[in-house]
Amino acid sequence: MERKINPSQQQVTKPILSLVNLTKRYGNRVAVNNISLNVFPGQIMGFLGANGAGKSTTIKMLTGLAHITSGNAFICGYSVKTAFEKAIKNVGAMIETPVFYPYLSGYNNLKFFAKLSGNVSNKRIEEVATLVGLGNRIKDKVGKYSLGMKQRLGVAQALLNHPKLLILDEPTNGLDANGIREFRMMLKQLAYKEGISILISSHILSEMENLCDIVAIIDKGKIIQVKTMEEIKHSCLQAGSQFIKCNAPNFAGKLIMQFFKAKVKIQGNKVYINAKNRNSLPQMIVMLTQKKVLVYAAGDVDYSLEDVFLNIINQSHNTAIS
Ligand SMILES: Nc1ncnc2c1ncn2[C@@H]1O[C@H](COP(=O)(O)OP(=O)(O)OP(=O)(O)O)[C@@H](O)[C@H]1O
Ligand SMILES: [Mg+2]
Repeated sequence: MERKINPSQQQVTKPILSLVNLTKRYGNRVAVNNISLNVFPGQIMGFLGANGAGKSTTIKMLTGLAHITSGNAFICGYSVKTAFEKAIKNVGAMIETPVFYPYLSGYNNLKFFAKLSGNVSNKRIEEVATLVGLGNRIKDKVGKYSLGMKQRLGVAQALLNHPKLLILDEPTNGLDANGIREFRMMLKQLAYKEGISILISSHILSEMENLCDIVAIIDKGKIIQVKTMEEIKHSCLQAGSQFIKCNAPNFAGKLIMQFFKAKVKIQGNKVYINAKNRNSLPQMIVMLTQKKVLVYAAGDVDYSLEDVFLNIINQSHNTAIS
């Protein structure tokens, strides 16, 4: 898919969304703690964090649903604090599950919202229905829609006013694997074809795979890492140890420790190896074969994206304690 805007060339452009020391306190509890973050034109930013991390609170501050305690946010350069109407004009948002009239068709629901916001043509309503892939079901009653179709209609509603930034709070909650994949494809098309920037929150890293260009990880109200999806996938490999499956794992483990100065752990018939040099694995296999060990399989341990996400969060907790 060709992209209208290439997010890797963003450094020279101005951000569409800029959070500057954004903070929200509820009484003594700091829900969002001094967050700074930029989203550039055409970029899909994943906003990732466990339950209670502060994702919805951040999004609510951006969309005027929660008061900003301190710091600020700028949308297309407009201050959310002092020029909210100008700022919010550029935003389409879907926060949690959107609510529609079930006895009206998708089209008439959109028409209702179009009237509320004024200045939206019938042509635009049809356009957004097609953009979200609801073209042939848009005249059906919403009461007959699946959850995935309702989420799509929510995005269609958010798109009515030609926003430059789409903000979606956990839009894939409740969708099955297929629904998530289709939803992801639709968002990519939007970002790629229309050049819209997207801020999408989730608590599942793997849902962000093959969608986001960049992921900001939030934990206990703080951004603890901002990484490209490529960097995260790379750290999956780095975090991983290697394994050798063989007929004499204890013996093999001792040999590997002795000759390669590597740390090992034995589990069943597998030796897990943490070597300084990951390229030593073939030499280890040769050595073991020479020592009459039968090697059945060897390779990198597959760490899932979720493992990496949890690792990043755990590391940040350990750093906070020490
Ligand atoms: N209206 C409120 N009053 C008091 N505390 C609140 C309020 N809204 C949120 N919080 C607190 O702020 C923190 C962040 O909540 P938030 O809803 O932003 O998390 P989240 O990342 O969206 O989590 P989830 O994945 O469960 O949706 C939590 O500790 C929550 O209890
Ligand atoms: Mg939330």
